[in-house]
Amino acid sequence: MTAQIIDGKAIAAAIRQQLKQKVAARIEQGLRAPGLAVILVGSNPASQVYVRSKRKACEEIGFISSSFDLPIDTSEAELLALIDECNHDDSIDGILVQLPLPSHIEDAKVIEKIRPDKDVDGFHPYNIGRLAQKTPVLRPCTPKGVITLLNSTGVDLHGLDALVVGASNIVGRPMGLELLLAGCTTTVCHRFTQNLETKVRNADLVVAAVGRPGFIKGEWIKPGAIVIDVGINRLDDGSLVGDVEFDLAAEHASHITPVPGGVGPMTIASLLENTLYAAEQYHDKLPHA
Ligand code: GUN
Repeated sequence: MTAQIIDGKAIAAAIRQQLKQKVAARIEQGLRAPGLAVILVGSNPASQVYVRSKRKACEEIGFISSSFDLPIDTSEAELLALIDECNHDDSIDGILVQLPLPSHIEDAKVIEKIRPDKDVDGFHPYNIGRLAQKTPVLRPCTPKGVITLLNSTGVDLHGLDALVVGASNIVGRPMGLELLLAGCTTTVCHRFTQNLETKVRNADLVVAAVGRPGFIKGEWIKPGAIVIDVGINRLDDGSLVGDVEFDLAAEHASHITPVPGGVGPMTIASLLENTLYAAEQYHDKLPHA
């Protein structure tokens, strides 16, 4: 078998195009453009690249993006005060604080400071709780993007044995909740998991989110399985590879995402979708300047 490639780049581009039209329609109706505040603390090179892409994507579809680049020695109190300002700013629908944060700042405090109706990352305990209780509102961007990709295949997910490899707050855990909601029998693996190979060999759907090149061996993939690779790893030669041995996995899988051009572009597309959702569902009724 040779897998069908799931083209995340094209799917994300189509979503951005639809959003651009929706923004234009809003403006025509006299509504304001959705606003996203993007906050970066410090100068982690990978974070700088991600933040730049997020800001650019906003501007391309007509969102207003407010940028806050704070020095590495910004105190937790200063960051919380900025979030409070954004919480009260009626022109801002979404607040994104790029992670990881410097070690002197506690992630949980920052995430919980963001108003749940502006939490377009979907990381606030309210939004995670809504997802866990089968009534999602703002959903974590990467797992939401993966579900969009899975739906694009037309495969019925109900009853599939799904395996998520990686249990981070950003991807693995909410991915497990999304797949459970989609009707999969879901297992989430982590550093203490035993017999990973056997689990992968038995899975109908594998989502890899560990951040280690080639961690999932291509020959482990069950014939006909769907493979979603969330990993983006830069090798010494500058090339980008995922967490799955792509070439061999593609010989076994029915569908597979490439790296780059698979899940990566979907994270930003989901962020834009969430920002418009926050504007429409939560903020359009508010008086604004
Ligand atoms: N760092 C890596 N992925 C993400 C994400 O989806 N959102 C935020 N805020 N930070 C990240």
